[in-house]
Amino acid sequence: MKSYIIEGGKKIEGNVRVSGSKNAALPILAATILCPDSNKLYNIPKISDTENTLEILKILGCKIKQNHGKIYVNSRNINTKEIPSELMSKMRSTVILAGAILGRFKEVIFSYPGGCDIGARPIDIHINAFKKLGIEIKEENGYVRCKADKIIGTDINLDFPSVGATENIILATVLADGKTTINNAAMEPEIIDMVKFLRKMGAKIFGEGTNQISIIGVKHLSGTSYNIMPDRIEAGTLLCAAAATGGKIVLSNSNSEHMGAIINKLDECGCQVSCSADKISLSAPKKLKHIEIKTMIYPGFPTDLQQVFTSMMTKSSGTSIIVENIFENRYKFISELRKMGAKIVVEGRTAIVTGKRKLQSAEMICTDLRGGAALVIAAMTAKGISKISNIEYILRGYENFDKKLSSLGAKIRIEDI
Ligand code: UD1
Repeated sequence: MKSYIIEGGKKIEGNVRVSGSKNAALPILAATILCPDSNKLYNIPKISDTENTLEILKILGCKIKQNHGKIYVNSRNINTKEIPSELMSKMRSTVILAGAILGRFKEVIFSYPGGCDIGARPIDIHINAFKKLGIEIKEENGYVRCKADKIIGTDINLDFPSVGATENIILATVLADGKTTINNAAMEPEIIDMVKFLRKMGAKIFGEGTNQISIIGVKHLSGTSYNIMPDRIEAGTLLCAAAATGGKIVLSNSNSEHMGAIINKLDECGCQVSCSADKISLSAPKKLKHIEIKTMIYPGFPTDLQQVFTSMMTKSSGTSIIVENIFENRYKFISELRKMGAKIVVEGRTAIVTGKRKLQSAEMICTDLRGGAALVIAAMTAKGISKISNIEYILRGYENFDKKLSSLGAKIRIEDI
């Protein structure tokens, strides 16, 4: 089991490059299944979630080659339509492989997906959309079997703008007959990135980034190359690390256009943030101001940064109110934060965070990916040496997290016992 050992009290200062986006890389890797050809992908982050997805692609029959930061995926010889259940259970985003396999072969078998325990995370919106597309679904013994003679485009109204369901429908219909329209679609930038990749392969998709996306089925897609967008959640996490430690940071390979709600909140905290071309700079104030945050669908404040901000608010000047509207169970990490002396009361979806806390080092256990990053930030602000175990969660989504933070002056190392 791996742990981080962190000596707190060091300011984060310097320049760092943001990695490729996890949440764009995963659907883009899935999308390579649709095309019986080779695709070249740049800027795929080296994290366990992408490694797990590449492993599934290999088991399906794809040929994978990695060369100096480029990944080649050749999906010509896919020879099974079943996603291996052991790997499926490791992460939730595996569910979008189903849409891609269905899109190409009109058939797929998969087990229920796993992932971080941050709420019920059902897949009913995905399944209902597949049914609407005329796909026959059988659910038995934990497996979902989907089959259709033909997938025929239609109008689909989502009950909630689910990111994964929006991606899954697009993947299932780019090669369908006719036109599919998704109403109440999710608008996240990672969906736009996946659509840009599909379009480069020859797909006909309109309206991405709005709440109505139309897909006109094409007969065939051809291989292409694509550069994955920067990870706005990693960027936000690094900005918070600098803000919480009273530091100063410049991010390169970042896209501030995707980060409006995040930058607004950092401004409200009193940070000086400036953005230019692909750079974001942040200089922390002497004392962070307390704020209110409500997580929302994009372009609102992202749930994936709620935990990191909650952790940072223990250092602010007063009481902050955080409302988690997307996942009902995203406060598990708070019991670990309390071990450091954080004073946070959780009432349903609301967390009330008392500021001005002098955190003390502690031994903590990661509860999930982003909650883990929140613990790292708290430990960086605390007095003494903290140990955070079970960091496999963090390694799922942050590329070289310890190395990047060390290069910025943090005292952090991995212990593997
Ligand atoms: C994606 C992101 C995740 C982010 C989330 C919300 C990836 C790989 N993951 O997850 O980092 O936190 O968007 O921005 O891109 N829901 C249902 N039924 C469904 C599907 C979803 O009830 O069939 C609910 C979920 O339980 C959750 C909410 O809808 O409460 C949002 O889920 P969704 O947008 O689907 O998130 P993911 O695609 O899983």
